[in-house]
Amino acid sequence: MDNRETVLEVRSLKKYFPIEKGFFRRVVGHVKAVDDVSFKLHKGEVLGLVGESGCGKTTLGRCVLRALNATSGEIILKTRSGQKVDLNQLNKQDMRALRKELHMVFQDPFSSLSPRMTVLDIIGEPLWAQGMPRKELEDRVRELATLVGLNAGHLNRYPNAFSGGQRQRIGIARALATSPSLIVADEPVSALDVSIQAQILNLLQDLQQELNLTYLFIAHDLSVVEHIADRVAVMYVGRLVELSETEDLYVNPKHPYTEALLSAVPKPDPRLHEEPIILSGEVANPANPPSGCYFHPRCKYAQDVCKHETPPLQEVTPGHFAACHFSSELDLVGVPV
Ligand SMILES: Nc1ncnc2c1ncn2[C@@H]1O[C@H](COP(=O)(O)OP(=O)(O)O)[C@@H](O)[C@H]1O
Ligand code: SF4
Ligand SMILES: [Mg+2]
Repeated sequence: MDNRETVLEVRSLKKYFPIEKGFFRRVVGHVKAVDDVSFKLHKGEVLGLVGESGCGKTTLGRCVLRALNATSGEIILKTRSGQKVDLNQLNKQDMRALRKELHMVFQDPFSSLSPRMTVLDIIGEPLWAQGMPRKELEDRVRELATLVGLNAGHLNRYPNAFSGGQRQRIGIARALATSPSLIVADEPVSALDVSIQAQILNLLQDLQQELNLTYLFIAHDLSVVEHIADRVAVMYVGRLVELSETEDLYVNPKHPYTEALLSAVPKPDPRLHEEPIILSGEVANPANPPSGCYFHPRCKYAQDVCKHETPPLQEVTPGHFAACHFSSELDLVGVPV
């Protein structure tokens, strides 16, 4: 399709958490948190991963980094030395050698930073784990601190001396320390005050452009990824339901779930404001999903076939994929970008 370098290819990834009952911990079912997800990420690309809480975004991100072991599927990373490796096949020792290539920025900058380590040690830890000598490590940490807008004179302080926004800068510096090939940013601004969300988003975007970083950028809200993502994947109950170039997804959504998420995005021109589509009910339970299309109990376009047949993710227009029986017939409402 194109000749850009692929950094990551995820194929048919599944993560099923067993549900155990009773003294003998008998397995009585599974939470299908990630259920047959495939996508590619190119070098220097930002893929936004969006869906309501409980859709499986964090589980997917953690499986990609092997912070969780996937149930099945392939996670093919092109390493800096140009080798392609399936992370899901690696043992602990081989994985340790690849740790420097993948990092995560966490959702909660309060619980994700160890309170008993200085900021210097927090940011420097991934370097220390690679065996970098102390002097070199301290120089690199100072350089990273400056890069993310932290005061390099405050590195001997502990995280509790910093505000939420500054803590997230610490988390970003740590994620960047080993110059990873891929960064998974898991809702990096959603725990922050609205007033500083834009600063951190801008920082992540500037760093991406300056360093040609590759992000899997998770958000529960489409407005967060609009400016940063090159492509967007929409997730619903463990599956991708839509995947496309960002602008095309916003202007011409092909899945009713995306249309509903878009209707909640604030519009710059209030005259364009349409009534938000109220999503009734909750995200379906991934331990006991509905039959057919998982979205059918909440979909205003649902027909009989939707209750019985699961729609596959199909290419509706070039590069634009959706999993809905009526993608090519429905005229869904997007938002101007
Ligand atoms: N360790 C776990 N054990 C069992 N179920 C889990 C575990 N982690 C997540 N889940 C379930 O998997 C589903 C997806 O969760 P998560 O990946 O956190 O979603 P999101 O990040 O989109 O909010 C949820 O139903 C959640 O309850
Ligand atoms: S397949 Fe049916 S229920 Fe599912 S999103 Fe499309 S119209 Fe709605
Ligand atoms: Mg999450």
